[in-house]
Amino acid sequence: MGYLETTHELYKNASQEIHKDLCCGNRPSQFLPGLNIPTEMAAMDYGCGTTVHLGELKSDENVLYVGIGGGMEALQFAYFTRRTGSVIAVDRVPEMIEKARANFDIAEKTNPWFKSDFVNIVYGDALKLPLPDNSIDIAAQNCLFNIFKEDDLLKALKEMNRVLKPGGRLYISDPITTAPIPEKLRNDERLRAMCLSGALFFNDYIQKIAKAGFGVIEIRARRPYRILDKIQYDIDQNIILDTVELVAIKTPVEEDGVCCYAGETATYVGNKDLYDDNNGHILRRGIPTAVCQKTASKLRALNSEDILITDPTYHYIGIAKANSSSCCCCGPAPEPAPRECFANCVNGIIIQIIG
Ligand SMILES: C[S@@+](CC[C@H](N)C(=O)[O-])C[C@H]1O[C@@H](n2cnc3c(N)ncnc32)[C@H](O)[C@@H]1O
Repeated sequence: MGYLETTHELYKNASQEIHKDLCCGNRPSQFLPGLNIPTEMAAMDYGCGTTVHLGELKSDENVLYVGIGGGMEALQFAYFTRRTGSVIAVDRVPEMIEKARANFDIAEKTNPWFKSDFVNIVYGDALKLPLPDNSIDIAAQNCLFNIFKEDDLLKALKEMNRVLKPGGRLYISDPITTAPIPEKLRNDERLRAMCLSGALFFNDYIQKIAKAGFGVIEIRARRPYRILDKIQYDIDQNIILDTVELVAIKTPVEEDGVCCYAGETATYVGNKDLYDDNNGHILRRGIPTAVCQKTASKLRALNSEDILITDPTYHYIGIAKANSSSCCCCGPAPEPAPRECFANCVNGIIIQIIG
């Protein structure tokens, strides 16, 4: 039996009986007025963070949710879309689909605004999505892709990219590792299926997402998720697994690589009004400006006392928002070119915010 089949079996069982070890209850609590999450659904918390970023969702967008679990996040997305079939949920485990359906029926009874047919549950595989190209505004996956071995991970990310419209957003919540995971754990199919041993390092995950065709990535959150401890796993050192929440935007990857915003800022503190690197980046004196990791490292390499670069906070919100409505006081964002709208209007001057 290959690791995909082991995964299938594990989630078949986890649909029939709550699997307490599976996940962690590390989701931020999200209060939405009028949304009652059935106990049965909340108990199947098999995610590791959230993909539902409340300020970024619009009712006229359609959502693809891959790996439905008990259906909680699909229900949260449906809270915003409220249209028949506006959330498509794909899962390859029929028993999990049945459980999610039953949970939606319960949700319909306790949420007057909700109809089960808002969520169209489709049997299918993340590695070969049963959907046409360029058809989806928002795609999401929580605690599934980390299970995939690297080739399959790339395949799954490319599938998400294929079905998203240009400018579409992929929301991910997934474990990453902070130290090498020994091969004996990586090759343990059950641990992998439990989201405990397949995780990549942060940078490797980001590069995979970029390779799949996402040119801009924003990190929304990062925090500890699990510890692989020396005693339980018979390893030399404790390994902290973090969870990362991010949004990746389907826009071309630049020649010098992906723009990943992880909360770093650059501030010019020299004796002029502005710093211009003549490469599209203008910094105002004394005003921290968001920069992507690529730009932060280029600016750091200048070793200039006039430019301060802050460390990543792993919390940044900007592009997806600008892309979905208007881009600050300058007016509507050109669609579908999110990077073009990184502009700050300052005293009538348009100052480009970094790429
Ligand atoms: C760890 S659970 C996460 C569930 C849900 N996203 C949540 O946050 O609670 C993984 C989910 O992915 C589904 N799954 C496993 N392998 C899959 C595949 N190859 N394609 C699609 N879904 C898959 C499982 O049935 C399960 O619903």
